[in-house]
Amino acid sequence: MSNAIISGIASYQPEDILDNQMLSEMVDTNDEWITTRVGVKQRRILREEGKGSGYMGQLAVKKLLQETGTDPQDIDLLICATSNPDYRFPSTASVIIHQANLNNAYGYDIQAACAGFIVSMQAANAYIKSGLYKKIIVVCAEKMSSMTDYRDRSTCPLFGDAAAAVLVEPSDDLSLGVIDAEFHVNGEGLPHLLMKAGGSVKPATVETVQNREHYIYQEGRAVYKHAVSDMLSSSLNVMKRNNLDNDLIDWFVPHQANLRIIEAVGDRLKMPHEKVLINIQKTGNTSAASIPLCLDEFKYKLHKGDKILMTAFGAGFTWGAMYLTWAINPK
Ligand SMILES: CC(C)(COP(=O)(O)OP(=O)(O)OC[C@H]1O[C@@H](n2cnc3c(N)ncnc32)[C@H](O)[C@@H]1OP(=O)(O)O)[C@@H](O)C(=O)NCCC(=O)NCCS
Repeated sequence: MSNAIISGIASYQPEDILDNQMLSEMVDTNDEWITTRVGVKQRRILREEGKGSGYMGQLAVKKLLQETGTDPQDIDLLICATSNPDYRFPSTASVIIHQANLNNAYGYDIQAACAGFIVSMQAANAYIKSGLYKKIIVVCAEKMSSMTDYRDRSTCPLFGDAAAAVLVEPSDDLSLGVIDAEFHVNGEGLPHLLMKAGGSVKPATVETVQNREHYIYQEGRAVYKHAVSDMLSSSLNVMKRNNLDNDLIDWFVPHQANLRIIEAVGDRLKMPHEKVLINIQKTGNTSAASIPLCLDEFKYKLHKGDKILMTAFGAGFTWGAMYLTWAINPK
């Protein structure tokens, strides 16, 4: 049996910056509040009309193919993790497959909110281990600005747009790649974090638009509390099962939800600060894309054999943790 390794990584962020000063001209907020409560200084926004998550996703995928020297025809499967699909149907995976010319690939979307990357990696891991597919792309593409209410000061500072993609392939070296993971769902979290309308429960009407129900609705305090305790418990479980103490972990890569959440989880795990990878200051919360975006930014630091613990939490609630050994040396 083979292990599933990440053999390449690439990302895309739109050029347009939305910084805290610009936000303070849109809603009643200020740089000091956002910096201390959320830890974000700026985020990228895809402003061009007619372009969605799929646009960013296909650019990340094309870059990934180019940087890894992979023939698009060799890709068997593309899994797209997104909460901001281009369309309610069909899948954004089918859009990206077409635009990136992955003519032999099958694909579908995964909706696991901010946990989308590690959940999709677990699916890729299962396919690789079963031998069903040999070259899989996991792409996380999130135009969060499409569901962010820029009149709601308690949510709009948090989110940003981005896409990131990894190539997942088999390796005979069983010390590399995905080693272990666990995932959970607690549907009682639904009322605390959701988009209230636009789904089959409450299809779009003039009224739902007027009530601004097509944006993220969030009860920040409840989400904060669960995010910290659930990322902590799943990380601890994975560490315990694999006899991983802090000394053995090279990098801790939490979902970049909020700097205070990252620090609270890191501190409770007693993770040395230099091992915690953080880029939220420049990106905001890019949902499923946040972990691979962070890995891509810091890939120059990551070496083959480095032990990485990732954890994520999102709407649902859904959360989990994954232990993976990096398989690429920096260029
Ligand atoms: C959203 C979040 C930053 C809000 O911080 P908080 O400390 O819980 O703040 P509260 O919502 O209790 O609001 C505190 C005060 O700040 C005010 N406030 C809210 N947003 C503000 C803003 N952008 N600028 C200035 N003041 C703001 C509130 O109105 C409130 O004022 P009041 O005390 O006069 O009523 C925080 O709850 C959080 O990070 N939650 C988790 C969010 C998250 O990560 N979600 C994604 C998970 S995947």
